[in-house]
Amino acid sequence: MKIIRISITIVLISIANLLLAGNGMWLPLLLKALNEGEMQSMGMKLSAEDIYSVNEGSLKDAIVHFGGFCTAEVISDQGLLLTNHHCGYSQIQSHSTLENNLLKEGFWAKSHTEELTNPGLFARFITRIDDVTKKILTGVEKGMAEKERQSVIDKNIAAYKETLRLKEYHDVIVRPFYHGNQYYAFQTVTFNDVRLVGTPPESIGKFGADTDNWVWPRHTGDFSLFRIYAGPNNEPAEYSENNKPYKPKHFLPISLDGVEEDDFTMVFGFPGRTNQYLPASAVEQIVETLNPAKIEIREAALAILDEKMRADEEVRIQYASKFARIANYWKKWIGESQGLVKTNAIDKKRKFEQEFSMKNEKIPSNVSLLPQMDKLYKDIEPYAFTRDYYSEVASRNIELLSVSSILGRLVTRYEDNGLDAYKAFLPRIQGYLDGFYKNYRPEIDKEVFATLTEMYAKNVNQMYVPDELKSINGRKGFTLLANKIYSESSISDKDKMMALLDMEPAKAIEKLKMDPAYMLSSSWGSLIDEKVNKPYNQYRSELDEYQRKYMQAIIETFPNKRFYPDANSTMRVSYGQVNGYVPKDAVYYTPVTYLDGVIEKYVPGDYEFDVHPKLIELYQSKDYGQYADTNGKVPVCFLGSNHTTGGNSGSPAIDAYGNLIGLNFDRVWEGTMSDINYDKSICRNIMVDARFVLFIIDKFAGATHLIDEMELVHPKNASK
Ligand code: ARG
Ligand code: GLU
Repeated sequence: MKIIRISITIVLISIANLLLAGNGMWLPLLLKALNEGEMQSMGMKLSAEDIYSVNEGSLKDAIVHFGGFCTAEVISDQGLLLTNHHCGYSQIQSHSTLENNLLKEGFWAKSHTEELTNPGLFARFITRIDDVTKKILTGVEKGMAEKERQSVIDKNIAAYKETLRLKEYHDVIVRPFYHGNQYYAFQTVTFNDVRLVGTPPESIGKFGADTDNWVWPRHTGDFSLFRIYAGPNNEPAEYSENNKPYKPKHFLPISLDGVEEDDFTMVFGFPGRTNQYLPASAVEQIVETLNPAKIEIREAALAILDEKMRADEEVRIQYASKFARIANYWKKWIGESQGLVKTNAIDKKRKFEQEFSMKNEKIPSNVSLLPQMDKLYKDIEPYAFTRDYYSEVASRNIELLSVSSILGRLVTRYEDNGLDAYKAFLPRIQGYLDGFYKNYRPEIDKEVFATLTEMYAKNVNQMYVPDELKSINGRKGFTLLANKIYSESSISDKDKMMALLDMEPAKAIEKLKMDPAYMLSSSWGSLIDEKVNKPYNQYRSELDEYQRKYMQAIIETFPNKRFYPDANSTMRVSYGQVNGYVPKDAVYYTPVTYLDGVIEKYVPGDYEFDVHPKLIELYQSKDYGQYADTNGKVPVCFLGSNHTTGGNSGSPAIDAYGNLIGLNFDRVWEGTMSDINYDKSICRNIMVDARFVLFIIDKFAGATHLIDEMELVHPKNASK
């Protein structure tokens, strides 16, 4: 009887684990209190102190914020960094020319002297994290107006930073957590000399491109290698020939033992933004109003680009990166909306809200929070919709208008700050335009303009439509307008635009302000600022206040539940297991893909699915060295239930012992709603298997000197 009871308890605990595990992006310094036990029960052999310690070298000392938008990790005692190919993409592209095309051929520095410098790129370590809530909220009182509250907080943050004496490369980043209920400070050390060491060709690093983006089964070797260089005493220094490879406090050994279903995994990095604590009404608005608007606009723009890219190879090259950027979130939003519907996210939120309201029956200030938020979401809706519509149409997809608004900054400098400010800013604008026109086709943009302005005029309330777009007759009318603007504007023509900027400043500004594209961009922008952004920001700040109170009330209402703070580009740990999933009825996806799948997808000459001859050769000769799985196949990617989001690209996947087993780079499409409602049943992150990374470096590229500087280990075999 007792045994039965114990085993029932064990079963219940593991079911509870299964439900819990995966959900959450946790603060490294709170792991001991909140997560260590669960992590160990899932198989982790480390302590919280091994992951995050202020005094001893710990896993956190191997993790960097890469350029502020991705994550990377140190994998040798010589500062070698591993991140995604798509994270290093613009650096790789900037070193590429037609004769020496690193994107196409890949690149492997044979020695330190061949490694390539990247101005502007940085690697930022976190040296310690502190809860500074008390200090930052000193002087904040109940009932304070929001503005006043924020100004007290800003002062406290500034004062706190003062107390830490800093070297140039030190900084302290203080951020709100739990929607402003808590504050944490992150002390950082930033290295600015980060060099490109190696990258596979795009046919590996971006294999499957947009068709496979957000998709499982996946076969992308999405990785690249960089190295951190340091000055005297191993301290950060600006680029110098004399800089030496950085000696890290910790680097990740790499496991050759691979993964099996249910293995413990942990992802360590800098997730950007999530929204887990929205009320049901806000999620409903995303699914029914905001996502559909953004999706339909991008769909229309992508259809035009796709047609042009397929018709002309040169256009394809020019537009590849733009297309990828637009398609990335277009596809994500579709998956997100479908996932929210499929997992009944709105109903689940409503049930939770009922429970919350019942438990708060006797606290009127809490009971009123949800109805008030619901009302505010109704009020903000027309503004939120128009704001999104405008930003997708005018700031993101019609390039002529987005460039016009950048030129607006030049005009503002001139008018507000004078001639010197103009002259100081001009070279930056010229440099920017130089890059812009390289990949710009006005005849394509003109079609996007006609299509999207028509959609805007049709779908947005007339109050927010600029006069230029009013009373235009059908598609023909918008095409005529586009023809007129694109032929008369200087901005759509590189030579005219550069000549304009060479003119005497007063003249240039005058001419710019008369330019039809500039005029449309500026009148449209002012209209939106005045009639949309103003009320929007007003409601937004009220909502922020309610969201903060709601978050606090949730935590107080459910004292036995753990709540993790929404992602905010600070360092977090997620953990889960290697798991497949059921994307639809009767279909089960296993969690590991192999090189065989690359060959299955191979389409000779195709820009997404071509395979490099050397890789085919290796596949045929089965020259896999120590990188094959026990089944004799080379693994490529695997899935886990780790909770990740944008910014986690390049994050290490770490095993139970603290070794690198993979490199995070994506999520599965069915589970992209994890930003709003993580659901263990279908939310999965996608990682490149570390053995594939090693296989490509060693067997494909022959860069064995890089393998030699790493530490390859067999943790599973050692523990058997
Ligand atoms: N979906 C991944 C992320 O959100 C990869 C994006 C880059 N790749 C692409 N084909 N667009 O960033
Ligand atoms: N590809 C994303 C990035 O660049 C990570 C995938 C995700 O959004 O989870 O950060």
